[in-house]
Amino acid sequence: MNLTIITKSPEETKKLGKEVGKLARPGDLLAFYGELGAGKTCFIQGISQQLEVKDYVTSPSFTIINEYKGKIPIYHFDLFRLNNAEEILELGYEEYFYGEGLTVIEWAEKIEQLLPKEHLKIDIKFKDRYKRIISFIPQGDRFEKYLKELNRIDNFRN
Ligand SMILES: Nc1ncnc2c1ncn2[C@@H]1O[C@H](COP(=O)(O)OP(=O)(O)OP(=O)(O)O)[C@@H](O)[C@H]1O
Ligand SMILES: [Mg+2]
Repeated sequence: MNLTIITKSPEETKKLGKEVGKLARPGDLLAFYGELGAGKTCFIQGISQQLEVKDYVTSPSFTIINEYKGKIPIYHFDLFRLNNAEEILELGYEEYFYGEGLTVIEWAEKIEQLLPKEHLKIDIKFKDRYKRIISFIPQGDRFEKYLKELNRIDNFRN
């Protein structure tokens, strides 16, 4: 199944991020798609809050990856400045993608061919100034189940 939710403010997007954070398990990978300012970081702030990260979460601007300590480690990639997929090979990305933490990737389209078979695609599109269309597209069994759980959250059905 796919799931699409419209949020009407940054707060709602963060709240949705928190719900996603509740379901996160070590080794999960969430691949975010969407333009500049779509709300990827905002969503990830919700996830981080849920996982009790104390750091202030922003798009890592000059580094490609930031690591946060929370209930489980979070590996936050922002690939906006990545020129080619090879640059991420040098970072030893597999240690993260197949590691013991939750990996979240902004601009996942840049390395689509390197994503593990099992991951959750989260696509954020602008609707208007404050509305965002957020689509969840599961890749693999683990995330099919994850989405069924997420779908049970009544306050986001619209
Ligand atoms: N419904 C909404 N959900 C999320 N953000 C929203 C919403 N409505 C307005 N905004 C605003 O949109 C901006 C989203 O910024 P954010 O940094 O999360 O985007 P991003 O996708 O991470 O961009 P970048 O690719 O530059 O990292 C914020 O300024 C936020 O206040
Ligand atoms: Mg960002």
